[in-house]
Amino acid sequence: MNQERTIKNEKHLIIYNDCVSDLIETKIVQSMDQYIQHGEITCLDHCKNVSLKSYKVCKFLNLDYKSASRGALLHDFFLYDWHIPGSHVGLHGFRHSKISLNNAEKHFELNKKEKDIILTHMWPLTLRFPKYKESFVVSIVDKFCSSKETLYHMYKRFIFIPIKSGQSILVKVYKK
Ligand SMILES: [Fe+2]
Ligand SMILES: [Fe+2]
Repeated sequence: MNQERTIKNEKHLIIYNDCVSDLIETKIVQSMDQYIQHGEITCLDHCKNVSLKSYKVCKFLNLDYKSASRGALLHDFFLYDWHIPGSHVGLHGFRHSKISLNNAEKHFELNKKEKDIILTHMWPLTLRFPKYKESFVVSIVDKFCSSKETLYHMYKRFIFIPIKSGQSILVKVYKK
């Protein structure tokens, strides 16, 4: 059973890589690795997480998994560290989907579904409603991955210290 699952996972990884390898191998996509997205996760790792999960969900639902995985890989292609003041103009949360789409169109040929995925992934914050089922999937998967990455970061920064039997306090751990 486990072996069956491993073979199935490997098969999925091969199909997934076929969908996105031409994008992942470029220097400009790799450059997302220098920008932090959530906690200690870089934009590149975050986009890869969203892309692989979106691929799996869309494959399971019989949707266009290729457009979903490609759009998801470029959904946060804004190319700056949004934590640094002055690195961008306006409110990052509202503006970065449009900036990411502009950057993606500059470097790659995108279909209309991939464009919509990038542009609407911040729905409902940006009020741009996803036009395609795949865009909706990526938007939900993005929220799931963002929450997981942020919570993991917070969890790593806190520890529980027992004070007496059955009770403990939460203490923040400061790192250099
Ligand atoms: Fe985003
Ligand atoms: Fe994201």
